[in-house]
Amino acid sequence: MLLAVLPPVVPNPIAGQAAFNQPLSALFPNVKTNGRSCASCHILSAGFTLSPKFTKALFATNPTDPLITAALADAGPDVTQAEILARLKDQALIRVNLKNPWYNAALGAAPDNPSDLRFWRSVPTAINSGRAQPIFFTKPGTHTQTKGTIMWDLREPTLEQQAVDASRGHAQAISFFSRNLAVDVAEHERKALAIPATLYKTTPIKPKLAPGHTNPADPAFGAPLFTLATANQQFLPSTPLTPGTPAWRGFQLFLGTPAQPKCITCHNMPETLAGGTMVNRSAGVSELNKTSFPLVTFKLKDAGGSFHTVTTADPGVAVTTGRYEDLNTFKVPQLRGLAKFDRFFHDNNATNLQEAVRHYKDGLPALFGDLKGNEVNDIAAFLAIL
Ligand code: HEC
Ligand code: HEC
Repeated sequence: MLLAVLPPVVPNPIAGQAAFNQPLSALFPNVKTNGRSCASCHILSAGFTLSPKFTKALFATNPTDPLITAALADAGPDVTQAEILARLKDQALIRVNLKNPWYNAALGAAPDNPSDLRFWRSVPTAINSGRAQPIFFTKPGTHTQTKGTIMWDLREPTLEQQAVDASRGHAQAISFFSRNLAVDVAEHERKALAIPATLYKTTPIKPKLAPGHTNPADPAFGAPLFTLATANQQFLPSTPLTPGTPAWRGFQLFLGTPAQPKCITCHNMPETLAGGTMVNRSAGVSELNKTSFPLVTFKLKDAGGSFHTVTTADPGVAVTTGRYEDLNTFKVPQLRGLAKFDRFFHDNNATNLQEAVRHYKDGLPALFGDLKGNEVNDIAAFLAIL
């Protein structure tokens, strides 16, 4: 609201870059912060994620770094400081404190009515956050239409709001980030950390059957409207692929066919390969809970208005929308810069690209149950050049 009523601010991406990379106390000596900057967690060398390689080295060489010392402040009543530090050091996971969307104060401390919901989450890349597509929903308990665009659970509507909230929360633990600074940081993220606006198209990729060939009995059924070369030009113009290479075969497997689209069912935005509007589906990560996160129990409301008690390692988007239908769904992340990541998914459970691809055999068996070892390698080779 505040952003809408005040006069527009002219964004300054240079100031935004400084505010992203340095603690506010370095920029404004009178300001007391916990010493963290955005770059404490969004590390350049790890593709703007946080990597266990980096955190382990930091614990060994610089245990008084604010990333570590400020972590102690995050401990809630249900976790020890030792666990906070171990999760940060070994798994590069951050404690995220959220509100139960349907908390009912009148019910008191019922087992399925906690007021707060706390999760461990990986640091997603800040690359292409400025090109993410929003979903729209009614804010739980209100009639207010709102949008969700970024974070694993899509809870932040804009980069500006996210910068304000990050600076109040885990970054500096005080509410100082001014509106101007948030606008500057967001502009830096859009200018320097995202694909150029000229490449940006908002139409999701949709593999279509050639018109007139929609009957499975038709010999031309499944004939794609595009050849692989046109698919490359259409969807990944800035990444020309060489025919016959593993990455080329991986691209083909990523697309699938119009009759049986594969990874692009969800990763369907040109250039970024993030999820397009309204696409936020489960990739089976929370369900498998390979990181053995503690389970939480609370209630969610379905489209018919009925409440369901759910137990999950992380409900993802459902904690934002309050919708039962969104249980265990997560933002479909963009796929640029993956070669620099050290871990994958919201719980950081996959330790390399092969493992991330292999996850889909168990995570989405209906689509990927028959994925072969050589296909996993080809898809991983494709992801590595993005
Ligand atoms: C203590 C570590 C930490 C610090 C410091 C931090 N972040 Fe993050 N950031 C995270 C985590 C963890 C998430 C994901 C949380 C979630 O989804 O619940 C995240 C998510 C984001 C996202 C969303 C990415 C996407 O596409 O969904 C953006 C953008 C972002 N941070 C920018 C910033 C900015 C700007 C700052 C500084 C003002 C900052 N972060 C400071 C840990 C951090
Ligand atoms: C049903 C939708 C869906 C399909 C199909 C799908 N993904 Fe995903 N993908 C997601 C979601 C949602 C996430 C985030 C999941 C999480 O962390 O809980 C994700 C995450 C990822 C990540 C991790 C990115 C990061 O930032 O950590 C990679 C890599 C990836 N997908 C690649 C693929 C590949 C390759 C395929 C095809 C083999 C594929 N995806 C198919 C929805 C999908």
